[in-house]
Formats: sequence, C-alpha cells, structure tokens
Amino acid sequence: MTLDITITPSDDPRSESELSEILADPGFGIYFTDHMLTLEWTPGEGWHGGRITRYGPLSIDPASAVLHYAQEIFEGMKAYRHKDGSIWTFRPEENAKRMLRSSRRLALPQLEPEDFVQAVDALVEVDQRWVPEGAGEKSLYLRPFMIASEVFLGVRPAQHVTFMVIASPAGAYFKGGVTPLTLWLTEEYTRAGRGGMGAAKTGGNYASSLVAQQEAIAHGCDQVVFLDVAEGKYVEELGGMNMYFVYADGHIVTPATGTILEGITRSAIMDLAQEMGHKVEERGFSIDEWRQGVATGDIVEVFACGTAAVVTPVGTLKWDGGQVTGPTGSGPLTMQIRQALVDIQYGRAEDTFGWMHRVC
Ligand SMILES: Cc1ncc(COP(=O)(O)O)c(C=O)c1O
Repeated sequence: MTLDITITPSDDPRSESELSEILADPGFGIYFTDHMLTLEWTPGEGWHGGRITRYGPLSIDPASAVLHYAQEIFEGMKAYRHKDGSIWTFRPEENAKRMLRSSRRLALPQLEPEDFVQAVDALVEVDQRWVPEGAGEKSLYLRPFMIASEVFLGVRPAQHVTFMVIASPAGAYFKGGVTPLTLWLTEEYTRAGRGGMGAAKTGGNYASSLVAQQEAIAHGCDQVVFLDVAEGKYVEELGGMNMYFVYADGHIVTPATGTILEGITRSAIMDLAQEMGHKVEERGFSIDEWRQGVATGDIVEVFACGTAAVVTPVGTLKWDGGQVTGPTGSGPLTMQIRQALVDIQYGRAEDTFGWMHRVC
C-alpha cells in the first residue's frame, strides 16, 4: 500500500430501496455508484491527492489537453460477488500492466500496478453494497481511466494528469441465454497500423471504430471485424472483443498480437484451453482461412471474448457481397470455456491459476 487515499463519504447515497431496484436490472453503464476515486499527477509531485468522494460531474477547463488531443487511456474490469458475500476481481494486475503499456504509448505517467490495484480495491470496498449477487452473472463493472488534465493548448505530453476510477453495476450480457453473434467484415475501415495505437486501450481507437460499427448495424450485424492495415488480409479483432477459431482436430487459433488489444480474457483462454488439452496457436489468421475453413468444415467453432460478454459464439460472417455461416450456433468448446471462466470468476470452481484477487 503506497497511496494515501482519503475517504469522504457521500452525503447523498442511494437509498437501499433505490439500490435494490437498480441492482434488479442494472443494464450496462447506466447507473453509477455513490463514490469515485481520484488521483492527480504532476512531474514534481508524482501521484498525489488520492481521494474517494461523492460521485458527480467534473468541472473541467475547456482548454484541458484531453479535450483537444485525446491523450487518454482506460481499463475495463469487473468485481464479482461470491456466494459467501466476499468480493473479488479477476487478474487486476493484468489490467494494471496493460494500463502501464497504454500509458507508455500515450506519453502518460506510469501508475505502478500495486497502486492501480490499491486504488481499484479502495473504491470497490467503499461501494461494496453496489456489487450485485453473482447469480445470473451480474457484476460491478469498473472503469479506471487517465486523462491529460493540464490546461494548455500546446501539443506535448500533459504536465497535469488525472487518474480516476468509477464503477457501474452490470447485468448479464446475455439475458435470454447465450446467442451467436453476426459479424460484419469492414473492408473500408481499419483499426490499427504498425507503430499505431492498436495495442493501447485509448479512446481514439474506439472513436475510430464507431463508423465501422454503424456500418455493421446498418447491415443487420452485431459487431464489426477489422482486418490488418498493411494487406487487408489478416483478421485482427472486433470493435471490443478478441477472436478464437476452433479446428475439427481440436486445436484453436487466435490472431497474433502487435496491433490488437491484448485481452485479459483472451490470455486466460489460452491457459484454460491448454489445460483442457487443446493446442493453442497465436498467429496471423487470414480472412480466406476463416471463410474456407468454415465452408469445408475444418473450422467447427468461432467465438469472441472480452470482459463484458466473457465468451460469445459467432454464427455468421457477412461482407459486401457474401456471407458464411458457421456449422454450429453455440459450439461445445465455446460453451465449455465460457462456463469454466465464469465458474472461476464467481467462485464456483477452484481457481487453480491464481487469477482471483480478494477485495473484501
Ligand atoms: C478492442 C478490444 N479488444 C479486446 C477486448 C477484450 O479485452 P479484455 O478481455 O481484457 O476485456 C476489448 C475489451 O476491453 C476491447 O475493447
């Protein structure tokens, strides 16, 4: 514990009855907990001013650098309530390390992983009544983020930076059971190039994905698939999830890193699948291999993964002028991996990998 964090409890927390109404059907990203955590950084003082205060709007100068040059990074993770009432996060030090990598790319200051975890834990502990019962796959979604808060219009790394954590209760991603996604292959837009920001979790990547996502929706699809920028040939990832392909002989493939956001779910699946006896390949995976593999039956399952949905099967891939539909809706390995992960997250299965971190 290296951070000093003062706690000023909210003078207007949600009543128990309001809270139970919210937790009965929280949706996603709609309601926010009673408090928020703030840290500030300057070159002279380093990280300081740690505080947990009432959740509420920020007063931000219109000349703050983040509003102009998007020097911003964030993370996405969840707190889970186990049957005995205890509260846990899943591999939080991996989110901390990814935020460190993102901060290097965006020329933001480094927040040490133990400080990141301490900050997240502190907010979850203060707002612990907001962590829903785990039955039905509800959780408390956590959003740590860092912004260039210096008031200055010059283009250079900010000399005043703010780190915050906010939290929002989240309902089950799939309400009526797990249903396969229909994906849209964008051939016009790309997400990341060599030397770009693809591997960083920064708002700009999401801003640039929105028009492609709009195109996907316009074609009746749920999510967009991006290809590599150099050749327009290799599958990268979806707007907000990584991908896996399951072959008939049992081996599985996930696109290699470099320009994709390295998901923490993706990495957990590598370990889990290997433990289940599946060979895992991390390599360039072309769109033709996908189309042909599904058509010939060599590829028997396709799924996407990420913190929000955990694991979700992919049914159909559409593109301008064609489509290919996978042989199964929700494949057995997809569902087996999904179940294994959620059972660990909700404390229903032994955590043999040491992934869970107890908050309180
Ligand atoms: C672009 C992108 N890829 C992949 C992922 C999956 O990452 P994780 O498993 O850490 O949630 C996310 C979700 O945060 C994402 O936004």
